[in-house]
Amino acid sequence: MKNIVILISGGGSNMAAIVKQAEKADWAHRLGARVAAVVSNKADAQGLVFAREHRLATAVLDHKAYPSRDAFDAALMAEIDRLGGAGSMAGQPALVVLAGFMRILTPGFVAHYAGRLVNIHPSLLPAFAGLNTHQRAIDEGCKFAGATVHRVTTELDHGQILDQAVVPVLPGDTAATLAARVLTQEHIIYPRAVERLLSGG
Ligand code: GRF
Repeated sequence: MKNIVILISGGGSNMAAIVKQAEKADWAHRLGARVAAVVSNKADAQGLVFAREHRLATAVLDHKAYPSRDAFDAALMAEIDRLGGAGSMAGQPALVVLAGFMRILTPGFVAHYAGRLVNIHPSLLPAFAGLNTHQRAIDEGCKFAGATVHRVTTELDHGQILDQAVVPVLPGDTAATLAARVLTQEHIIYPRAVERLLSGG
């Protein structure tokens, strides 16, 4: 099996979209792949409820319990490799998927998962890397916004673009209404991009 480990911090709706697509499109038989585990840095992340209901292995690592970013990332790597190694021929996860995981990762973490680490960002990268993307797009007067699935490098919200979706910015939009419109597209492009990676495309 190719094991996917998904990292979340909150709602986990992108994680849920990937899990649902894995079931619907039968990744287990078609691609020899499965979502092996969901890891959160927050114990109260809403997405953990969905993951547990779907009988996925879950783990919580509270970053505040570690003395440094390096110490947290080392523990996180060990947990991902333990969960992602189970039942896989390679003994390690095939893909580590960041889905609303609100932590900046160390270069050591990014190097450890080189070629296997992807993220979704709620803007049309390279525009609006970082936080508050929707309000910034509205403030700039953008007519279009969107989301980007990309490979992760040590530079925040950079790396090769794997998929994108575009939505209009409508008159009267707030950050919340725009975010909701973008999120519906995230749920389409993220499972699609992961499926493509697993198929070797
Ligand atoms: C998404 O908009 C994602 O792009 C951003 O945070 C949000 C997470 O949503 N990084 P969810 O946890 O997947 O519901």
